[in-house]
Amino acid sequence: MTARIELREVGPRDGLQNESATVPTTTKVAFVERLAAARLPYVEATSFVSPKWIPQLADGPEVAKGLKKRPGTSYAALVPNLKGYEAFRAAGTLDVAAVFMSATETHNRKNIAKSIGDTFPVLREVVDAARRDGFTARGYVSVVFGCPYEGKVPVESVLRVARELLAMGCEEISLGDTVGYANPRQVKEVLARVFELASPGRFSLHFHDTRGTALANALAAFEAGARRFDGSVGGLGGCPYAPGAAGNVATEELAYLFSEMGLETGVDLDALLDAARFIAQALHRELPSKYLKARSSARPA
Ligand code: HMG
Ligand code: MG
Repeated sequence: MTARIELREVGPRDGLQNESATVPTTTKVAFVERLAAARLPYVEATSFVSPKWIPQLADGPEVAKGLKKRPGTSYAALVPNLKGYEAFRAAGTLDVAAVFMSATETHNRKNIAKSIGDTFPVLREVVDAARRDGFTARGYVSVVFGCPYEGKVPVESVLRVARELLAMGCEEISLGDTVGYANPRQVKEVLARVFELASPGRFSLHFHDTRGTALANALAAFEAGARRFDGSVGGLGGCPYAPGAAGNVATEELAYLFSEMGLETGVDLDALLDAARFIAQALHRELPSKYLKARSSARPA
């Protein structure tokens, strides 16, 4: 049986949260729908965070309300607290509430203004409410492979946060290489420990490509047993509270890598490129994805 890879698209959230250009709400809705048309099983459409912290996604409620449900695609949004959860629930189009926190104290404070210990009860309330209402909860751990403030991150700090998020009821944990520090050997070492907490199928790998190692890290994670990967179409993205963070690994590069290796992603690559070109045009800039460039050049690629 062919192994299946599940791709999680985070471009409309992780990508657009970091763009200086203002993208109109209707364009965001059309972007998410193009991604769903590419048969991605998960599209993170927006965030319900403070508009003072992330002005680019201040129209989260309007984006979410504008979405049309499409069979086979779950729509998700970041939710930091119960205030965000109320907006999530009211949207009526979303399936997955994604809570988020960091493996280091400094990054956690810079990103969500709390200590790690004080974050757990806030996220637990969100996960409890989401599950009670029939939604799925996903939990992010940031700076898993290195922190722009604290440097090396002990694996015990990652395990502590991942263990709590699983115990709260998060069905999937996304392990974030927020600033692209990871290397393939480290990925295998960290995953060997993390996969002792729960089966590899419960984890997604979220690599940023700040230093050009994201695809190599994805392959190392695959070899360690991972089958779920976050990406941003075109390589959009970053984290505004992580200095130096660049985009996520491009979703189409993950799709190409794994499908050329004979693995199934279920994704329509041409439709994915259509979504990448659409958002590049809206942002008036070229996106970093090499695969996108290869397929857009005049020469046969
Ligand atoms: P705070 O200032 O401690 O919040 O921020 P507060 O509860 O004291 O409230 C302060 C103000 O924010 C109040 O408004 C609240 O109503 C409002 P005011 O009275 O001043 O007008 N507020 C909200 N408004 C809308 N929606 C909400 C909400 N909550 C409070 N949900 C808070 C705490 C968590 C809100 C803030 O720090 C925040 O919004 N942080 C978000 C940061 C963020 O989105 N970062 C990027 C995403 S994480 C990431 O990119 C990493 C990831 O990709 C994985 C990886 O790469 O590693 C996921
Ligand atoms: Mg990220």
